Amino acid sequence: MMSLGVITCRVAVATGLRFFSTTATTASALVSEAVLSNVAKGFGDQVGASRANLSYWLRVPLIHGGSVRNSSTISVEQKEKQDVSADSSVGGNNDGKGPVSYWGIEPAKIMKPDGTEWTWNCFRPWETYQANLSIDLNKHHAPATNLDRMAYWTVKILRWPTDIFFQRRYGCRAMMLETVAAVPGMVAGLILHLKSLRRFEHSGGWIKALVEEAENERMHLMTFMEVSHPRWYERALVIAVQGVFFNAYFLGYLMSPKFAHRMVGYLEEEAIHSYTEFLKELDKGNIENVPAPAIAIDYWQLPAGSTLRDVVMVVRADEAHHRDVNHFASDIHYEGRELREAAAPIDYH
Ligand SMILES: [Fe+2]
Ligand SMILES: [Fe+2]
Repeated sequence: MMSLGVITCRVAVATGLRFFSTTATTASALVSEAVLSNVAKGFGDQVGASRANLSYWLRVPLIHGGSVRNSSTISVEQKEKQDVSADSSVGGNNDGKGPVSYWGIEPAKIMKPDGTEWTWNCFRPWETYQANLSIDLNKHHAPATNLDRMAYWTVKILRWPTDIFFQRRYGCRAMMLETVAAVPGMVAGLILHLKSLRRFEHSGGWIKALVEEAENERMHLMTFMEVSHPRWYERALVIAVQGVFFNAYFLGYLMSPKFAHRMVGYLEEEAIHSYTEFLKELDKGNIENVPAPAIAIDYWQLPAGSTLRDVVMVVRADEAHHRDVNHFASDIHYEGRELREAAAPIDYH
């Protein structure tokens, strides 16, 4: 796994903190090699030895009136600039430069190593990764208890209507199923978050790990939306299914997190199977192996020229990781322990 680092060069100036890129800014001269290497080293330390192979990105928050505003206090010059554009900037763009914020919240301008600008607002370079394709896709948790069997057969029964509805339309099927798959992690994360607040105790990193999973599933959805567009009745189906599934999973998790995680583990096993079928259809030529969407290339750090097949491969690897995380979580509960007692698999891709 390789992740991308970010160099944020902070130089204190009279007006407060400034952030400089090492690209063509006059201030870049202030940033010495020593500062750069220290920042890079610090980041490297933070992410650990497994991320030694860092590519460096430059994060450059936009500067108003010569200073980054980190508080609600703004200069007269900034206020004048804002007043001029206030009418036209409400909810829109300021001459294509983005909305003016009274609060000093400016979008960071991120440069890629090749000098071009990072254009995705929905995720940042340091959230991207290379999927671990060597993960064992065949691992299976054999149901050992009645609760396991209930979770297993719940998933098997749920698969039956989806098989009938989608048949071999795997692109559409993937897109629709991702709208469901992105729910459990967020629900579990929410419940653990509230529990942590109520009990005045740490979560062991599980809130972050589960919300990360939900975010990853949502990125699957954003990717498949690029190759398959939902029709009106599919959108309606998603609304109905979400209404039912969110509430059912929420209640299910409150009653038995052991069952809830086991069920998601089996759901992920089914997802691996579905994506394997998807790959078979691509290989047979029944589904056109179109170029990979740009969002997928950047999110999974895929090489230029990657195709839909490459995307399905990395998504399937993600599902295998979700399978492991959820069966692991269920096993912890089976041991009579709480999730926070075991280290959460944060960044497990
Ligand atoms: Fe997914
Ligand atoms: Fe998944």
